[in-house]
Amino acid sequence: MITVMMNKYSLRCAILLAPLVLLLIFDPVRGDEDNAEELRVFTTDEIAEYDGSDPDKPIYMAVKGLVFDVTDGKEFYGKGKGYNVLVGRDATRAVALWSLEKKDLTHDVTGLTEKQLKSLDEIFESVYKAKYPIVGHMQFEHKTKN
Ligand code: HEM
Repeated sequence: MITVMMNKYSLRCAILLAPLVLLLIFDPVRGDEDNAEELRVFTTDEIAEYDGSDPDKPIYMAVKGLVFDVTDGKEFYGKGKGYNVLVGRDATRAVALWSLEKKDLTHDVTGLTEKQLKSLDEIFESVYKAKYPIVGHMQFEHKTKN
């Protein structure tokens, strides 16, 4: 009798908990950044293929590990244009510092101030996430997440 009651109880629990478990597994309320997990993973060599030098290819640029298709911003990022050095790579540090110097063309944000990181987040949201489609994420960001 006790076993039967426990079974009934367990069954009710299972029915009540099932939607919660499904929600945890499939999590439909995710942001763009998490969805990027399903997108293409780029190595530094792979993203370098999309630096604007081939007019038949899209132009890609990564900020904070997310790869954006910035082809629509050709007038900024295309071959020979002012911000071409930022593309075909993760240029997070350069964006945070408003710098186009070679030493800053990296994803590494070591030593940046709170103010610089805040500025980075503002540009990330108001320019990159607002204007350009996300096509993937960098391999190194993926690695540090695990
Ligand atoms: C004398 C210095 C600079 C001037 C006069 C300048 C001017 C501009 C102008 C006019 C725009 C276009 C705004 C628009 O039409 O939407 C722009 C966009 C931008 N600038 Fe600069 N800029 C300068 C330096 C820099 C530097 C050093 C960086 C370093 C990362 C930078 C990063 C950007 C970015 C990320 C955008 C947004 C491009 C986009 O919409 O995709 N700028 N800048």
